[in-house]
Amino acid sequence: MELENIKLDINFVRSQFPAFEDSLCKNWSFFENAGGSYVPQQVVDRLNKFMISNKVQPYAEYPMSKIAGINMDKATELFANMINASSKEIIIGGSTSINLYVLSNALKYSLQPGDEVIVTNQDHEANISPWRRLSEVGAIIKEWKMNPGTAELEIETLEKLLSDKTKIVAVTHCSNIVGSINDLKKISKLVHEKNAIIIGDGVSYAPHGFPNVKELDVDFYTFSLYKTYGPHLGLLYGKEEILKELPNQNHEFLKDSYPYTINPGGPNHEELSSLIGIYEYFNEFYNHHFTADNLELREKIERINEIISLHEEKIANPLLDYLNSRNDLILIGQKKIKNKNRAPTISFYSDKISSKDLSNYLTKNGIATRNDNFYAWRCLKALGINTEDGVVRTSMVHYNSEIDVTKLIQVLKKL
Ligand SMILES: Cc1ncc(COP(=O)(O)O)c(C=O)c1O
Repeated sequence: MELENIKLDINFVRSQFPAFEDSLCKNWSFFENAGGSYVPQQVVDRLNKFMISNKVQPYAEYPMSKIAGINMDKATELFANMINASSKEIIIGGSTSINLYVLSNALKYSLQPGDEVIVTNQDHEANISPWRRLSEVGAIIKEWKMNPGTAELEIETLEKLLSDKTKIVAVTHCSNIVGSINDLKKISKLVHEKNAIIIGDGVSYAPHGFPNVKELDVDFYTFSLYKTYGPHLGLLYGKEEILKELPNQNHEFLKDSYPYTINPGGPNHEELSSLIGIYEYFNEFYNHHFTADNLELREKIERINEIISLHEEKIANPLLDYLNSRNDLILIGQKKIKNKNRAPTISFYSDKISSKDLSNYLTKNGIATRNDNFYAWRCLKALGINTEDGVVRTSMVHYNSEIDVTKLIQVLKKL
């Protein structure tokens, strides 16, 4: 099937998200999606229903409880299928930051003094600090630095850092500032040649298409469900063969019940259950754009990803072109989107006015955005940008429209 001929139906997509009809939200062009996305009606309905009918301790035999447990398990299984993993490999925690701290704590017992850990300076701090802290158990921390001219992480630089002592490499799949998509599959291969573990941060990647973790061959992968159209939760994937060897951080008697061994305590029940709504949304999205068929869920996700990418390319390129044409605005990262080289997460700043003034001006003109370092302060520092004032980030997802982008460009033209 020629997916290029199937266009994302933006009116259908927006009709699924109640925020676009909400009196507070509806007049805004929303460009802060990398901070957190709106949720579809299906998620709201699932959450409401759980709070009314199933807000009890799950997994007992009475129906309110039984259905609560069934739905929590179903949500986990659907997400496992969507990213091509098994339910035993999915951990749902409060956020990506929490998930990565808990994971680094579990992995520290496998390190010896002198073992090496590689972190980048392009990542969000959530995928740096937990790994840098491993110096407390004697690990040597090496930094994979971006090319300061392009803001890209280059594979050759990593190759020079990898050694027989490398045990862990933590790298982002997509930078929340630069927007570039790193070749995680290639990086995994290099890391595995050294028998080391790779942790991929997919927080800025997953909102643009759920990844295939088996194809990437990462050992761990994490993303924030509140940026993939859900409530405030984080998902951590871990390869089963590694997860089952990690020390138990939960109650003592749960020592053999991985993946529940990684996080002390359980997930937020109602929010976990509401993740079914994300699946339901994407299922409706699929049925709206394709004729009904018997494809596996993961195959459907791949098709969905494809039309989302084409739509994002179409709406983001005019903005990239425009920013690039301005001498007074400095665009970070690649200048065009083509074949998923970057996400529509577009950061810029000016050498004439502060990012704060710039973002205030946009906000006054109906563009929901902000200035910040977005916790990627090492990235900003490496690029010579003031980490307090930061950059203006205009980030889009598939529900953004050409109208949003035209409005943003018009507002920027009057600056
Ligand atoms: C790329 C990236 N990684 C990690 C995080 C941390 O995610 P959380 O807020 O779920 O801890 C963020 C949050 O903005 C992010 O953008």
